[in-house]
Amino acid sequence: MLYPADMQSPDTVRLSLCTKFGGCASKVGAPDLARVLAGVRFPTDPKLLVGLATSDDAGVYQLTRDLAIVQTVDFFTPIVDDPFDFGRIAATNALSDVYAMGGTPITALNIAAFPIDTLDPEILRRILEGGVAVAVAAGVVILGGHTVKDEEPKYGMAVTGTIHPGKIVTNAGARPGDHLLLTKPVGAGILTTARRRDGIPESDLAPAIAEMTRLNAAARDAMLAHNAHAATDVTGFGLLGHAAEMARASHVGIEIDSISVPLFPRVLELIDLDFVPSGTEGNLTYHSEFTSYADHVVGALRVALSDAMTSGGLLIAAEPHDIRKMYMELEKTHTCAVIGRVTEDGDGTISVL
Ligand code: CO
Ligand code: CO
Repeated sequence: MLYPADMQSPDTVRLSLCTKFGGCASKVGAPDLARVLAGVRFPTDPKLLVGLATSDDAGVYQLTRDLAIVQTVDFFTPIVDDPFDFGRIAATNALSDVYAMGGTPITALNIAAFPIDTLDPEILRRILEGGVAVAVAAGVVILGGHTVKDEEPKYGMAVTGTIHPGKIVTNAGARPGDHLLLTKPVGAGILTTARRRDGIPESDLAPAIAEMTRLNAAARDAMLAHNAHAATDVTGFGLLGHAAEMARASHVGIEIDSISVPLFPRVLELIDLDFVPSGTEGNLTYHSEFTSYADHVVGALRVALSDAMTSGGLLIAAEPHDIRKMYMELEKTHTCAVIGRVTEDGDGTISVL
């Protein structure tokens, strides 16, 4: 593919148009992934504390009695046009899986793919600078990286963090009676798709970019301070998909109060205008297998709750009074909300009320 002249400058490039699938919508879907992984036998190890079995955010491996490492990798195609913003979003998203486990990220390796023969290398430099800015803010040291030639740009990080083996917050610990806190709005996939297709001006994307570049570090601090039972971050499988992973792993049901879920501005309107990424459509179909919706939950809202997001917030389960304390700590600086509860009935299912 040859890129036109205005795509060659880092100042005018519309990076999101350099790719067929945007961002986390480029992620292979949960059903496909399950079919693939079912055929692979991964060896177990007594030091492997969290592995592939529970669809958790990151793996945890024990080094000593009081020290384990948390490891994760995430990379994807551009979802926004500005190279620096794309780098920041990709890095924030990669770090998020460590925070979701309650860990502290310490080092990262860059992973990049770039059409170095047909796009200005300065664009790649700005992507990497975006990643560096986020790493510095998170106190993470970038040790190195690996870049391959590719038709479409891609960027992300492999991240290593530390955690106490007794303080891991998995998605498997939610208990009946828990409340659920969500620490960022949903619908960023809808907004980035609308922007790619020129349905909204760049300025309408600003709230989503601000949230996608916000580290989940403060949310992690709040959940560790107030006895979180379970947590995950909301990304490519959408709010309902990640909630369902938590419900399945914890052998509980989850009720979502649809009216309480914070949405980015204009999301429902843009869904009605059909700015829905393919990843979100796929999620919606898959989620209908384990989700029941109250009649008043309109179609556009069902789509929003399944939106394939990048760098979303943490979804945290804890006792109601602990959730209230987390909320009080975060609400000054975060768009967060108590969005539902954990139930005894309905192992692995979601009810949207
Ligand atoms: Co995750
Ligand atoms: Co991830």
